[in-house]
Amino acid sequence: MGARITGFGAALPERIVTNADFEQYLDTSDEWIASRTGIRERRFGGTTTSLAVEAGRNAIASAGLAPADIDFVVLSTTTPDQTVPATSAEVTYQLGTSGAGMDINAACAGYVYALVTARGLIEMGFHRILVIGADTLSKITDQNDRSTAVLFADGAGAVVLEASDDDTFLGWDLGVDGSARPILYCDHGGYMYMEGQEVFKRAVRAMLDSAQRALKQAGVSGDDVALLVPHQANLRIIQAANDRLGIPMARTAIVLDKTGNTSSGSIPLALADAAAAGRLSRGDLVLFTGFGAGMTWASALVRW
Ligand code: ACO
Repeated sequence: MGARITGFGAALPERIVTNADFEQYLDTSDEWIASRTGIRERRFGGTTTSLAVEAGRNAIASAGLAPADIDFVVLSTTTPDQTVPATSAEVTYQLGTSGAGMDINAACAGYVYALVTARGLIEMGFHRILVIGADTLSKITDQNDRSTAVLFADGAGAVVLEASDDDTFLGWDLGVDGSARPILYCDHGGYMYMEGQEVFKRAVRAMLDSAQRALKQAGVSGDDVALLVPHQANLRIIQAANDRLGIPMARTAIVLDKTGNTSSGSIPLALADAAAAGRLSRGDLVLFTGFGAGMTWASALVRW
């Protein structure tokens, strides 16, 4: 039994926060933020549940399905609305999906973990899985700390993965190195703490190695990839990985200039943006790759 992505959707809060808005009260500048990160604006607002429901509803509609056709909701998030129950429980209820639901937390690599997990669930007999990535990082970010406030934001994206005769999952790679926990974390009730330069260095290496393992498993190279969909944390990290993978920016999905880093939302938001813009044709190879706190990393090579 194989699996294919048959629908996609996105959700962003209405409130736009520009770099100029941070200039009003922080010792920062549009020039610093844009040149160091590529981010020009981001969205704040909503809850993880509300964004997940909107993105999920859009993905189900784009697949031409009804909510009751979905038999599993896998929700990747690091910002659940409550500790208990899982946010996916409320999301399944509000959407009206059937069957099962669960949350996954592998930080910003979580969405690719969720996709690969969903592929495995299809092997176990589930038929139509809604894979959502949703985060509201603004609520765990100190808005007076310029080193993190300008980076993290809110958003969600989703795809529908359906059982199919042809398997479109050609390669994947998941990993974690828990020794890196001290460089990026958020305690219960606290704010994000990050050693930016250390995360930067490790992120490039982790993303690159992981993407190469997924390509190798599929027996293809960066030249064969029609679209790279990387975690949207920093344009310079993406460019460094691109160069070494041999995938030009013209074949890379970028939304971070408008969204900032939305953690689990970032990869499905970038995919939905590229797909809605007609940048994907049936048969194209799409490479998802991400990294996050943990450190975690994850890649998947999928035929569109
Ligand atoms: N505005 C102006 N100056 C700033 C700002 C800001 N918003 N933030 C930091 N600075 C200052 C620093 O204080 C430092 O000043 P100093 O030289 O006087 O000490 C100077 O800018 C340079 O700081 P660096 O940290 O060296 O800047 P760098 O070029 O490394 O860029 C950045 C910082 C953008 C955070 C970068 O390191 C980065 O993107 N790292 C990766 C972060 C990342 O990807 N995080 C997401 C992980 S995924 C997840 O799980 C959430």
